[in-house]
Amino acid sequence: MTRALLLGFSPHGKAAQTFKLARALLRDLVPHATVTERDYGGQALPPLTREYANALTTAGGLSGKATALSEQLIVELEACDLLILCTPVHNFTVPAALKAWIDHVVRIQRSFTVNAQLAKVGLLEDRRTFVLVSSGNARKGHEPDFLTPYMTAILATVGIESVDFVYLPAMVRGEEAVNRALEQAHRQLSLTISSGL
Ligand SMILES: Cc1cc2nc3c(=O)[nH]c(=O)nc-3n(C[C@H](O)[C@H](O)[C@H](O)COP(=O)(O)O)c2cc1C
Repeated sequence: MTRALLLGFSPHGKAAQTFKLARALLRDLVPHATVTERDYGGQALPPLTREYANALTTAGGLSGKATALSEQLIVELEACDLLILCTPVHNFTVPAALKAWIDHVVRIQRSFTVNAQLAKVGLLEDRRTFVLVSSGNARKGHEPDFLTPYMTAILATVGIESVDFVYLPAMVRGEEAVNRALEQAHRQLSLTISSGL
């Protein structure tokens, strides 16, 4: 059975179009999946503590209370075989809510390590991942996109390489544009998901 983890990073929380679309697709296309939902846009993760920063940058300081939340988030990630990240573009890149999740999950000697050539190597298993990206901008290529290369690189850092991006553009341009974006994204995701996860 598919175990899906649906994470939202919009300030609109579970009312965000990407989150609602992901929910509907899971319900229609993977009806037997067990779904865990988290809304980190509406209910932000706490800022990093000094103890956590020290734990990540001090030899031997990698366990215990300082890393408890990070551990919880990584265990939840490890437990899924379908990961869906729903995120808006904020100022050309990921919103702070998503960056906070990344800073808790990308942890040295837990979700990645560093090899003899000083390259970062992922320690998590790869899993099917969709990143649903909502933006105000109407056209891809019209402004810098730091979100796509960043998310590709950071997910690969922990070992997640099977990533599809689904874009919902022009979401501030009225109902017609929103409906068009939703239909297009729905079609793209339906085709990918129903041809096998
Ligand atoms: C702080 C902030 C910054 C934004 N920056 C961008 C941007 O750089 N490019 C863009 O296309 N849209 C930008 N937008 C518009 C959002 O990406 C757009 O409204 C999106 O559909 C919001 O999705 P959501 O409802 O899932 O939060 C920004 C919105 C906010 C609130």
